[in-house]
Amino acid sequence: MGGENAGFHGDINLRVWLAVIPQIFGKLKAEKKVEIVSAQQHELYKPEIRNQKNSTSRTICEVMTPYRFVLLIMCWVVTFAIVPGILSFAAAQSHSSLKIPFSLPEDEFPDGPLGEAIQFGEDLVMETQTFAKSYVGNGLNCRNCHLGGGTTPNAMPFVGISGLFPTYRGRSGKVDSLQERINGCFRRSLNGKPLELDSPEMTAIVAYMTWLSQSIPTGLEVEGRGAKRLPPPSNPPDPKRGQKLFISKCSHCHGEDGQGSQNSNGSYLFPPLWGDHSFNIAAGMARLNTAAAFIKHNMPFGQGGSLTDQEAYDIASFFTIQPRPDFSDKSKDWPKGGKPKDARY
Ligand code: HEC
Ligand code: HEC
Repeated sequence: MGGENAGFHGDINLRVWLAVIPQIFGKLKAEKKVEIVSAQQHELYKPEIRNQKNSTSRTICEVMTPYRFVLLIMCWVVTFAIVPGILSFAAAQSHSSLKIPFSLPEDEFPDGPLGEAIQFGEDLVMETQTFAKSYVGNGLNCRNCHLGGGTTPNAMPFVGISGLFPTYRGRSGKVDSLQERINGCFRRSLNGKPLELDSPEMTAIVAYMTWLSQSIPTGLEVEGRGAKRLPPPSNPPDPKRGQKLFISKCSHCHGEDGQGSQNSNGSYLFPPLWGDHSFNIAAGMARLNTAAAFIKHNMPFGQGGSLTDQEAYDIASFFTIQPRPDFSDKSKDWPKGGKPKDARY
């Protein structure tokens, strides 16, 4: 019997404590006889007790010396208070603030077919209009929002994301693969069509994201994933104030009409923020909080961090509500509820 349980001291401890605790707290005064479960197995019990194989019945006062009582209370505190406290603290840390410092790979793309796929992935993300034209329904490229092709913190970087998918997402109400997430941006941010999941384009984009994520442990986020959310604004966001700020801070690049500015070949030098050539109503950037966070950290271009939080909210509340393409599948979003308040539909 001892040999069988030799590896499970914790289990034996627990069984002994479970047997002893009610006796102490409920029947201490009555000095009732206590059945000690498996007393022989427990090191706390003196050899003479252990040796009396047939005599497992003792009074609580015989077994429970003051020293053992203190030990029992200490074990109880450790088991039921401190350990769960530490575990839940650790869990909270890993969900909220345990982030890996942002870092980009220092090496070149590898030689050979893999390196070519990674390079194609980077081209697709930087110049989506050129390399995946038939899947794009507006004037944007991935890098217009994922600045530097997903290499910029707080501009929805791709660093680390290959280890974060598949993941459950409330918007789709299911577990999404990285490929499905990429197609989410094709259909919404680029107002276009999804890539075939096993197309060379999709494989190349995933290869590029995986290359960017190579030094980030699976399942952990980098600092600067997404765009760091701003605290709620002190005053309600005001589109009128936002429009004035937009004219003074944004319009010299994006145009007073928000339509950006085009090169002679039709490609955009400065991308449109609304209208037919911009992202549709179901894109992440069409949401107030996402847009406010993005522009606070990244706009005006080259002067990220120069707007106050309130200004970022005001401007976002203005440009996100401007006319933009609809999204035919919008009724399928958040099928299990939980639609955020700043969704436009
Ligand atoms: C109009 C801006 C915009 C464009 C263009 C855009 N995205 Fe996004 N993308 C976003 C935003 C905003 C998010 C984060 C949304 C959120 O809050 O979850 C995002 C999230 C993502 C994510 C998930 C990131 C993460 O941390 O989970 C991937 C992958 C992604 N986009 C890929 C792409 C690809 C590939 C393209 C080009 C085909 C693209 N995006 C184009 C705005 C854009
Ligand atoms: C100096 C020119 C410049 C100014 C000023 C500027 N932007 Fe931009 N903005 C850009 C460029 C360039 C990009 C695309 C970046 C890229 O592709 O690398 C961009 C991208 C964006 C995007 C994502 C792409 C899209 O079309 O939706 C948003 C949103 C945006 N800017 C909003 C703003 C807002 C709001 C302001 C004013 C606070 C602002 N920008 C000021 C140049 C500018």
